Amino acid sequence: MQSYPIEEKHAYQAWREEKLNRYPLSVNELIIELNNPIKLMDKEIRALQSSCVKTNIVFYRLPANTQIDKQIVLSIADQLGLKQLDANLCADEDKISVIQNANNSSSHYIPYTNKALNWHTDGYYNPSSQRIHAFLMHCIHAAKNGGENNYLDPEIAYIFLRDENPEYITALMDENVMTIPANEIDKNNIRTAQTGPVFYFENGVDLCMRYTSRKHNIEWKKDKTVQSALSCLQEILTDNAYIFTYRLRPGEGVICNNALHNRTAFEDGDEKYTKRMLYRGRFYNRITNSLTSAELETNNAMVK
Ligand SMILES: [Fe+2]
Repeated sequence: MQSYPIEEKHAYQAWREEKLNRYPLSVNELIIELNNPIKLMDKEIRALQSSCVKTNIVFYRLPANTQIDKQIVLSIADQLGLKQLDANLCADEDKISVIQNANNSSSHYIPYTNKALNWHTDGYYNPSSQRIHAFLMHCIHAAKNGGENNYLDPEIAYIFLRDENPEYITALMDENVMTIPANEIDKNNIRTAQTGPVFYFENGVDLCMRYTSRKHNIEWKKDKTVQSALSCLQEILTDNAYIFTYRLRPGEGVICNNALHNRTAFEDGDEKYTKRMLYRGRFYNRITNSLTSAELETNNAMVK
């Protein structure tokens, strides 16, 4: 979505209406079957893009027994224009992270344990020059129990907040609203403190979001409207028909424009194939939209 000033009523309302019109409410409408991940068909790319244009989120399913490795996961991302990979602390040399319950130094970070993860967008602690605008997670193995994700389109969060009180948007777009203190592990200063907005527009046309609902290691601007906006956002994330809930199965993945998401706790089994393991890539750019208006009309019908 493009940036609409708060005083702008008509254009924003028109966009809002179009956004919510026939918005998919079942996660099954977002799952695209792919035949060959190395060479996606045009119609598959269009369906993936179409879902992302509408909801900022899409799921894919590969044929059973598809041999998969990190390069194939990167290939899927590449075919959707996701080329600027982020290398986070726990990523391997190829910049793909293996998300699993690890018993090593990565266990400092909750994503690398089997604990529940609060609502967040990925890389909210990154410096402004390395903001995460998309990510892909591919499931190699699912856990014996749990490990389900919930997702919410940031544009839906924006709409609900603006419906409640337009000043909430102004408050959350403040450049100083959210500070992540420096990350100091084992006395090493790994990252400096990062201050920035919750909502911002990339190039004036793409709404992006930095957010975490964690209570510790985060400093919010001391301001009444900010506090009310955060309470409102927490309510939106608690009970909302627009939340997509999905537990990835082996051979499935999710690609999104850094949507809000959380994760339930999980329990691994004894067998390797019952130990949850995902490949994850994070990207500085967003999913390409090469669809024409006419194609969007057609493909929206496919997704819904
Ligand atoms: Fe995440």
